Amino acid sequence: MSTGDTKGTKRLLIRTWGCQMNVYDSERMAEVLAPLGFSATESPEDADMVILNTCHIREKAAEKLYSELGRLRVVKDARAESGHATVLAVAGCVAQAEGAEIARRAPYVDLVLGPQTIHRLPEMVARASRAGGLVLDTDFPEESKFDHLPAHRPAQGVTAFLTVQEGCDKFCAFCVVPYTRGAEASRPAAAVLAEARGLVAQGTREITLLGQNVNAYHGEGAGSLAALLYQLAEIPGIARLRYMTSHPRDMDDALIAAHGDLPQLMPMLHLPVQSGADGVLAAMNRGHTADDFRRIVDRLRAARPDLAFSSDFIVGHPGESDADHAATLALVREIGFASAYTFKYSPRPGTPAARAPYQVPEAVKDARLRELQALMVEQQLAFNNSRIGAQFEVLITGPGRHPGQIAGRSPWLQAVHAEGPESLTGQVVRVEAIGASANSLHCVLKEPQQHQSEQHAA
Ligand code: SAH
Ligand code: SF4
Ligand code: F3S
Repeated sequence: MSTGDTKGTKRLLIRTWGCQMNVYDSERMAEVLAPLGFSATESPEDADMVILNTCHIREKAAEKLYSELGRLRVVKDARAESGHATVLAVAGCVAQAEGAEIARRAPYVDLVLGPQTIHRLPEMVARASRAGGLVLDTDFPEESKFDHLPAHRPAQGVTAFLTVQEGCDKFCAFCVVPYTRGAEASRPAAAVLAEARGLVAQGTREITLLGQNVNAYHGEGAGSLAALLYQLAEIPGIARLRYMTSHPRDMDDALIAAHGDLPQLMPMLHLPVQSGADGVLAAMNRGHTADDFRRIVDRLRAARPDLAFSSDFIVGHPGESDADHAATLALVREIGFASAYTFKYSPRPGTPAARAPYQVPEAVKDARLRELQALMVEQQLAFNNSRIGAQFEVLITGPGRHPGQIAGRSPWLQAVHAEGPESLTGQVVRVEAIGASANSLHCVLKEPQQHQSEQHAA
């Protein structure tokens, strides 16, 4: 983020919850506000504007908003007493889902905006400062926000997110995303390529393409995620590509083949399955069975044998029996997921599953979650241990925690630390793993750095 001259500069604090799409939106909100003189601060007491970028996916995620707003109200009042105005904004998926409720419960909020109107922020800020009172914009505008966000982005670092697709038409029975993010829409390939080139020119080496259903991408000029990945792989300087989150139903032949063809496409795929039981998958309206998922994994592994998988699971979806839960545990073992996000089913207002008759008791959900998490911890450690003695390439992202250490990312998205000079930041270096924990790998560099810096010098 650009800092610029502090003289006359206003301070902006953005808090972000939820998925990577929200992380990306927060970056873009900071960028549209920069020309108005806003630069980043971490302290609410210094902030002339605070944006809470919220998530509505589970009840707990939404509740965080109201407790955070209560704390910020105190800060806003204290600042007002010393003559400083504070613009308080709520953005993201809670804003989209319950904008009016926010206005009622927290009348001291100045702006409420949904994920699709972030490009209108400067205009909303002007309206709020002129008129006072609540400015609410939770439209799903005809025009895409991407056409109005600045084409040129400031430097993002060695790794960066790039949203290529938004929204969802799948309507899984438990999920709010189709209601908060709207219908599926893809950005044109030319816009994605331009943004990617801009990032690479400023030192980004690894790009993760984002979308709620990223493999449903069908943007103009590419037509499919596979075609987009081939186009991106042509950009000199892109060392690594990843994408998330995918739906098993959209895992087509071309995309599976791309995993075999493109060395830039990293061998770690996040592919949510949610459950291993067909009855639950049907109740969830997922549109695939456990066997469909197994076949997709087999085909992907045939294309790229070192591919590892991570996934999302919900335990305690309405109607889930002990036998269904056992089927999920069996699938987890069988596929050998390297990591997973595991959630307790949380009823969301307005979704079909929330109205389903057979809700699973809280205590049963808790027990199932503990069981699944224990299994995943075991599998994640086993996966990390399986790398010990192996050699592979690591993208160095910066200094490590201790002096003389550097940090990076393995092809499988594991955090790596090694002894080495910080000058290797942004380079892909060969390492050998000599130790592992549940969350990281300890590695030694295998090639002389001299050779590396010549090979990868910008
Ligand atoms: N688009 C992605 C993920 C969207 S949300 C997909 O289709 O897989 C991220 C994860 O949150 C989901 O994969 C699901 O596991 C979880 N999730 C969504 N709604 C939930 C709910 N009501 N209760 C618990 N977990 C939920
Ligand atoms: Fe939600 Fe399902 Fe769409 Fe994923 S595919 S965002 S879980 S409705
Ligand atoms: Fe949450 Fe919205 Fe993302 S509900 S998970 S921030 S799409």
